[in-house]
Formats: sequence, C-alpha cells, structure tokens
Amino acid sequence: MKKIGFLLSGSGSTLKNLIQKINEKYLEAQISVVISSKSNVYGLKIAEENNIPCFVVEYSEHKKDLDEYSKKITEILKKYNVDLVVMGGFMSFYKVPEIYTNKVLNIHPALIPSFCGKGMYGLKVHKAVIEYGVKITGCTVHFVDNEYDHGPIIYQEAIRVLDNDTPESLAERVKEVEKRVYPYVIKKILENKFRIINRKVFLEED
Ligand code: GAR
Repeated sequence: MKKIGFLLSGSGSTLKNLIQKINEKYLEAQISVVISSKSNVYGLKIAEENNIPCFVVEYSEHKKDLDEYSKKITEILKKYNVDLVVMGGFMSFYKVPEIYTNKVLNIHPALIPSFCGKGMYGLKVHKAVIEYGVKITGCTVHFVDNEYDHGPIIYQEAIRVLDNDTPESLAERVKEVEKRVYPYVIKKILENKFRIINRKVFLEED
C-alpha cells in the first residue's frame, strides 16, 4: 500500500475528499501523516477524527528560515516513509529536497502560469481572476519544485467564469472540479502511469 504525506494550512476540504476516495477504494493508498503549517485549523480536526497522525510546523515561526522549516517537514515525512507528498490548501513554501523530486503534488485553483505565484492562494486567486476579467479559469495539478507554482504541469481543467461570479461562488465551482481531478491524478501518479520529458508530463489516460 502506497503511503501519502499530506500538507495543509486550512479547512482541509481536499484532505476530506481524499480520505473519502480512499474509503471508497477508488484510491489504493493510505494517508500516513498530515502536517499543517498552522495550528487550530479544521484540517487537523479532520486528520484526528480519521486517526491520522498529525503535526504542526508553524510557518509563522519559521518565516525567516525556510531551510529549517522545510527540514522539519521533511524529517516528519521521512519518519513516516511516505511515497508521495500531497499538498491540499497548503499556503506556505516548502523547499523540496532531492529525495522528493517529482514526488510532491500540488493543486492550484487557476490555470498556471496565470494567477499564481507568491501570495496567490485560496480566495485571492479567484478575486484576481474576476478583477482581471478573464472568461476562463480552472485548476492545475503540478509537481512542486523550488519556485512558487512552477513545477511540471500534470493536468489542467478549464472552468468558465460567469458574469455574476463572486470569488466565493467561483471558488465553490473550482473546488467541485478539483474533487474529481485531484484523486484521478494522484491515482495515475501512484500507479506510475506517467512519463516526464524535460518539464512535459504525459499521463496514460483512461
Ligand atoms: C483549493 O481550491 C486549492 O486549489 C487551494 O486551496 C483550496 C483547498 O483548500 N490551494 C491553493 O490556493 C494553493 N496555492 P482546503 O483543502 O484547505 O479546503
């Protein structure tokens, strides 16, 4: 059974969905550990309720030393011997060590390389999308490298921006798509059904 280490910072809706997909046996994997960059977030409660070991590595205490911050996270992931690291609503920077190259996934609520980068997360992304006036947004699953929202893109899906959308209504529709897309991509990656050539990722689609 493949082991997942999950990184979050907030409400944990992505974690909850992944747990559901594992329980439904859509995904043959186990979430071995959850690490949060913040204390007192609902995502930690979800981990506890599902008896998943969880840890807090406070980003606010490590802002000036990202090496130390990332080292602490890596130590926990190594201790739990994870095969894959999945970020879901993780709002801080994790420096990916060599051993986890192309083993850390993130989902971003827009079509990278637009509306991404430092400070672009959660509702801020949808607000920027609406203010700019683009008609299409979406979600992107990518491997994480050591630049914000920059690693090789694995999968993207487009979502129409409606004239009467608010950041909240758009976030809701994007999340609905993410609920289907992220488990699908995680499954492919766990089954090794992908190839990377330079920064191009090819998935063996169903
Ligand atoms: C998702 O929409 C995800 O794309 C976004 O956070 C939401 C999930 O949060 N992630 C980012 O903005 C990362 N840059 P949750 O799992 O805490 O509910």
